[in-house]
Amino acid sequence: MAILVTGGAGYVGSHMAHALVDRGEKVVVLDDLSTGHRELVPEAAKLVQGDIADTKMVTKLITEEGINAIAHFAGSIVVSDSVSDPLTYYDNNTVKSRALIAAAVEAKIEAFLFSSTAAVYGEPGVDLLDEEQNLQPVSPYGWSKLMTEVMLRDSARAYGLKYAALRYFNVAGADPQGRTGETREHATHLIEIAAQAATGRRNRMQIFGTDYPTPDGTCLRDYIHVTDLIDAHVKALMHLLNGGDNFVANCGYGHGFSVLEVVDAIKRVSGVDFRVDLAERRPGDPPALVADNARVRDILGWEPKYDDLDTIVKHALAWEDQLVKGRVKL
Ligand code: UFG
Repeated sequence: MAILVTGGAGYVGSHMAHALVDRGEKVVVLDDLSTGHRELVPEAAKLVQGDIADTKMVTKLITEEGINAIAHFAGSIVVSDSVSDPLTYYDNNTVKSRALIAAAVEAKIEAFLFSSTAAVYGEPGVDLLDEEQNLQPVSPYGWSKLMTEVMLRDSARAYGLKYAALRYFNVAGADPQGRTGETREHATHLIEIAAQAATGRRNRMQIFGTDYPTPDGTCLRDYIHVTDLIDAHVKALMHLLNGGDNFVANCGYGHGFSVLEVVDAIKRVSGVDFRVDLAERRPGDPPALVADNARVRDILGWEPKYDDLDTIVKHALAWEDQLVKGRVKL
């Protein structure tokens, strides 16, 4: 098997590249390195720096490397940026994905995996979100991903494309072996930011909103360890290549933690009591997003291995520590 991993120099994509290399698969990473880092790509993978919408180059790559599956992680992910600059998000996440899907269809790729998001649901107002909820994103980011899901659905009907779209909840943690992790210049994710506070990369952090209709007033999220998320991707790939049906499924653990609980866990696990300021709500944050994960379990037989907040936090802290000590050069 030869897999093209777009965005394979980024956070989630690099974990996929490592997991596939670990299985002995041939991996080609396509990444424009706008936010990714070549140091996160496994040595055994080939890294091509380029644009997923460069159809000529992608088609040549597919043919020359004998690619039979594509795992598409490349994209922009900061929800607030998508609100201030929607057209960039529609370009990076929708228009470029359209070009990649067209190349995949043309080349008769056998399986296409897509990184989708819980942001396609918007502000659902239910405790557990299954895939049949209304799809009403509240950000251009959510719409940009939903439009790509729609293109995949319609391409499956029209051209027989085989695909799976995985709707991620809050991805967190890092490779348990310490080979890769979340490494953004402008961190926005809670665990990433709290880990930076615990390791001294920042001297404080804020909690956005303490008056939500949740048990402790802060938002609830379903934090999934990146390694479990990648395990679902590998299983989804096998499922499709073995003739399984196309599907769209949530990826989360099915239970939520509040922002306060996460911050407490980081303080407890790190042993560092960093400064936390209570702040106004961040625009666009739904009070609670928790996955019903019955579908991904049923279809793939997926069983999480790292469903433990302290373990997620421990791995995030270990990665952050490597960054602070300069052991990973970025
Ligand atoms: N938060 C803080 N302080 C911070 C950062 C975050 O209090 O410094 C809070 C947020 O307000 C929110 C929670 O922590 O209540 C989680 O925020 P993140 O930024 O870590 O993640 P989001 O839930 O906003 O978004 C993430 C992904 C989306 C995805 C969503 C699905 O970035 O792509 O999870 O649950 F859609």
